[in-house]
Amino acid sequence: MDVSQMAGIETKDVTRLDRVGAHSHILGLGLDDSGQARESSQGMVGQLRARRGAGIFLQMIKQGKVAGRSILLAGQPGTGKTAIAMGLAQSLGHDTPFHMISGSEVFSMEMSKTEALTQALRRAIGVRIKEESEIIEGEVVEIQVDRPASQTGAKIGKMVLKTTDMETQFDLGSKMIEQLTKEKISAGDVISIDKATGRITRLGKSFTRSGDYDALSTNTRLVSCPDGELQKRKEVVHVVTLHDMDVINSRSQGFIALFSGDTGEIKSEVRDQIDQRVSEWREQGKADMMSGVLFIDEVHMLDIECFSYLNRALESPVAPIVIFATNRGITTIRGTEDQSPHGIPTDLLDRTLIIPTKPYTEEELSQIIRIRGEEENVNFDDDDEAIDLLTEIAKTKSLRYAMQLITTANVYARRQKQSTIRIEHIRHVLSLFADSKTAVEKLGQYQDSLIGQKKKVE
Ligand SMILES: Nc1ncnc2c1ncn2[C@@H]1O[C@H](COP(=O)(O)OP(=O)(O)OP(=O)(O)O)[C@@H](O)[C@H]1O
Ligand SMILES: [Mg+2]
Repeated sequence: MDVSQMAGIETKDVTRLDRVGAHSHILGLGLDDSGQARESSQGMVGQLRARRGAGIFLQMIKQGKVAGRSILLAGQPGTGKTAIAMGLAQSLGHDTPFHMISGSEVFSMEMSKTEALTQALRRAIGVRIKEESEIIEGEVVEIQVDRPASQTGAKIGKMVLKTTDMETQFDLGSKMIEQLTKEKISAGDVISIDKATGRITRLGKSFTRSGDYDALSTNTRLVSCPDGELQKRKEVVHVVTLHDMDVINSRSQGFIALFSGDTGEIKSEVRDQIDQRVSEWREQGKADMMSGVLFIDEVHMLDIECFSYLNRALESPVAPIVIFATNRGITTIRGTEDQSPHGIPTDLLDRTLIIPTKPYTEEELSQIIRIRGEEENVNFDDDDEAIDLLTEIAKTKSLRYAMQLITTANVYARRQKQSTIRIEHIRHVLSLFADSKTAVEKLGQYQDSLIGQKKKVE
């Protein structure tokens, strides 16, 4: 049920972009077949125990037998907690819902905290709906589009599809042409068209035509030309999240809300109805539920009400698997005077498995920096001086700061019309941008001449 495609609207989750960028080099947990962590694989370096632990958890999720379990990634800043959660998400596969929020987001939405949490939890529970549908599946032999004489007329055209056994010509309406153009379908593609919705899916490029393309991108899948009839009945499985269903069914909001991302509060009757319907479908064998993953980063930002709500929600038979992450030690639980480890109430902490993350060695830091360099298409000078300096910065200041310097030094080097980053480029940006530790030290020195409360800066 890809609603955005049906309406031809592209949606982009703007708030997520930034975070995705920082971890875009992470392609998985980097484990081998036996679940051992490889020293460096899929963009992941070191932190072997934590990755192995996450791998076991991943296995549990994939087996689909657990619901309502949680793990907590706990460790100093910049030790790869968010990275590990993203790696786990990458290994989940497309069907399993994964939703990520940051603890403080719950407070910044225009809805109650518990509503925000409920929505987040329901975004992480998938409903797999099985449907039999009629499809047309074949290899594209030719697409021909006739441009209308006037600008306003609808486009029409023809498309020839074949299987190894037959070939048929179809007339194309303007909607279909629009979709073919958008999906960039051309001769040699093997496609599947859902007859009910008209939705086109590219299955891959045909083997027989692969010789025609000398610049196939690495993610092009080669498939064989289908055999038999062009029209088939097929069981298709859609995965939607409970939250998607809530939104579509809450009459006041309807489809449009999905595009804006602004769903507002959803009435509890709507949720009850959906739950009811899903349980009927399950009894009739039409649907399955699957627990996805909700990742709550910076979990110490939640307050006591959120924690008690989560505690209860995790007991429910339909609960997602929750991953928490925090860099706090013993601290006050928000909304109380009480202290507790990681700022999480002990009753919730008790039912959570904790995966500690440890600071990286110099060697690991330098490898992460190299990987980030590749990710950002940056060339470091061969003498490794730039990398060594960045490693030193990562060790003494922070890994994140070192990473930011890669980007800024790259901009500077390019301005100097140089294609590699050398140590002087790093030194230059180092003199322009301060890291937080240095900034705090400076603040300490100049506090008296700045405007503000005269408090000690920690
Ligand atoms: N083991 C690793 N392999 C590759 N890249 C890593 C690894 N650990 C961390 N990184 C990268 O280093 C940066 C900082 O790590 P990350 O954001 O995961 O730290 P964190 O533990 O979540 O810190 P914080 O407590 O401040 O949120 C990110 O860009 C991340 O992708
Ligand atoms: Mg983090």
